[in-house]
Amino acid sequence: MSIHLNSVVSRRRFLGGAAVFSCLPSLSSLAAESESETWAFLSDTHIHADAGFVSRNETNLSENLRRVVAEVLAEKDSLDGVLIDGDCAFNVGLPGDYEQFAKLLAPLIEAKLPIHMTMGNHDDRGPFFQAFADQQAKNPPVESKHVAMVESRVANFVFLDSLRFVNKVEGEFGEAQLAWLDRMLAANPDKPTLLIGHHNPQVVPAGEVPADQPVKITGLIDTDPFFQLIANRPQAKAYVYGHSHNWGHKPDDSGFHLINLPPTAYVFDLARPNGWVKATISATDITLELSALDKAHPEHGKVQTLAWR
Ligand SMILES: [Fe+2]
Repeated sequence: MSIHLNSVVSRRRFLGGAAVFSCLPSLSSLAAESESETWAFLSDTHIHADAGFVSRNETNLSENLRRVVAEVLAEKDSLDGVLIDGDCAFNVGLPGDYEQFAKLLAPLIEAKLPIHMTMGNHDDRGPFFQAFADQQAKNPPVESKHVAMVESRVANFVFLDSLRFVNKVEGEFGEAQLAWLDRMLAANPDKPTLLIGHHNPQVVPAGEVPADQPVKITGLIDTDPFFQLIANRPQAKAYVYGHSHNWGHKPDDSGFHLINLPPTAYVFDLARPNGWVKATISATDITLELSALDKAHPEHGKVQTLAWR
């Protein structure tokens, strides 16, 4: 359970087919070294309004999420929360997509699991907020962006918004959001902090991105200033993202972890798994366990522990 620190929302509850946020007293600095919390990490659900819609690789998008939700629900008693890291909607974020998305999430909502979502490039904030009204902050800490900081028992989570243009491949945080992120990190230095956004890091040469026009760069076009900010904030331990539909993780030279979530939807490379990740977080590390939809996939059930820098 969680407390929002964005100065806008201290307690959010979603009714009627939307997400549930709720709160526990923060134990923050009292958390013992041995204490841990567990989250379900999902990404790239790509839900279409049509529950029977079949996409790339004969993937039934709703059926995949239905199966993942059932697996997550089976572990509800051990979970502190659920995150869905963008591309919630199929392609351009239509109202019917989010209506179907909310229906599929209903078992988790009824189980009162806190659910946090980010915006991907196939989402659209307007229809998203119409379907999930209480996700929208009354006074957004970053104008036109869907961001939040959540203090959980062991870790802090910063939910970032890298949606630049709907249905264009590049992502961008922007100067205002990065400044807000830096202020949040400066004000909350004590607990390991996970940064959650949709787009993968991508080195982009300076001056190659026009300010107000799409550009065909698959990834985060302001990766450089993002990483420069992180370098000065040692409590930032990992960036968790989706977008590439390619499960994997690696540390950078400083030991900051880049965690690329699998999609629940289709994969681009048939050798790669789809599914979700169970993440157990402590003061010293994070343990990741892939639950692939294909139980015969060689990476299904694999457990790996990544030490914090
Ligand atoms: Fe995606």
